[in-house]
Amino acid sequence: MPGFELIGEEERRQVQEVLDSGVLMRYGFDGSRNGQWKCRELEQQLAMRFGVRYAHVCSSGTAALSTALAACGIGAGDEVILPPFTFVADLETVLSAGAVPVFAEIDQTLCLDPLSVEKAVTPKTKAVLVVHMCGAMARVDALQAVCRAHHLTLIEDAAQAAGATFRGRALGTFGKVGCLSFDYVKTITCGEGGALLTDDEGAYRLAQAFTDHGHDHLGADRGADQHPHIGLNFRLSELHAAVGVAQLARLDQILEVQRRHKAILKDGLAGIRRLSFRVVPDPEGDSSTFLSLLLPTEDEARQAVKTLAEAGVDGCFYWYDNNWHYHRKWDHIKTLSSPARLALDRFGYGADLTKVALPQSDAVMSRTISMLIKLRWTEEQVRDKLARMKSALA
Ligand SMILES: Cc1ncc(COP(=O)(O)O)c(C=O)c1O
Repeated sequence: MPGFELIGEEERRQVQEVLDSGVLMRYGFDGSRNGQWKCRELEQQLAMRFGVRYAHVCSSGTAALSTALAACGIGAGDEVILPPFTFVADLETVLSAGAVPVFAEIDQTLCLDPLSVEKAVTPKTKAVLVVHMCGAMARVDALQAVCRAHHLTLIEDAAQAAGATFRGRALGTFGKVGCLSFDYVKTITCGEGGALLTDDEGAYRLAQAFTDHGHDHLGADRGADQHPHIGLNFRLSELHAAVGVAQLARLDQILEVQRRHKAILKDGLAGIRRLSFRVVPDPEGDSSTFLSLLLPTEDEARQAVKTLAEAGVDGCFYWYDNNWHYHRKWDHIKTLSSPARLALDRFGYGADLTKVALPQSDAVMSRTISMLIKLRWTEEQVRDKLARMKSALA
């Protein structure tokens, strides 16, 4: 995803302001920082842009996920339902919280199937972690309804969907807490960074303390802060936040370009009968970072990956074989291979990840190819790409 395609003068200016102040840390040093509070500024702008009461920035999307689990009270032995098409960070953070990942199937939205989620609920389920993959949304309204019916907490991973909306409302704002990533290959980037979004004051208080060793941040003197609970250091630096401030200002422009490029490709491919597209519950809200195509069979999808590469169409991902994003190749996760023993390994909790079988998800992912949408393409390049794709896929 393309934030890195647009690093320019405004990012430089923002970073320079931090360097000029000499204060690179978000907390304290009030007297010497020349009024520069870039983390705070980014949080205020995120809250406004995403329409939430609270935004809290942290050091990565992974840190945001760990913090969200902690802030929602998810810990040892709690079951968290999540999709098998995601990023390993979701699994890693659930496992490192001592919680138990439970997979539900995805459907042609490439995100959690609410019916399968409902079937996966047990008395130990505490939360559903929905991941809005490849720039667009899960059936988040139906997932909210499942969570409501079973008294579960909905947490959103919108790392890949910054700026996407469902019925006009930003992804990341439907759950109790939503998580964003600003790593180098996300829609907007700080180099590394992440954020939590919430309307829940309690979750916000816990989150902002958890990312800074449990500091309550109530007074002006950091040294006199109380520590009501344990935390970690997931702080974002002022330098990273400065880049984020500049990048967030570009978000609408990025979305506009992505949507324009994707529309040309999607409209142009629509006539090819053996192709279908990922189901997007609200197409207007798609952030359009990817165009995801479905072929009728796995064999045809594998063949299409080859012919697209031969035709010089780059940036096409066949997730079914990918070892970051799809469960099939996560042997290290299934066997709980870790430098230090995990709670799930020690206590078991009745879970065995080596036995996970997800035929519905396999049937979707084995047929899916996702193509990255880039910002710096000229319209001529997009049309050239379309022509190559058409001849490769026809
Ligand atoms: C869906 C998803 N969740 C979480 C993350 C983790 O974000 P970060 O790289 O900022 O830790 C990523 C990063 O690729 C992701 O794609």
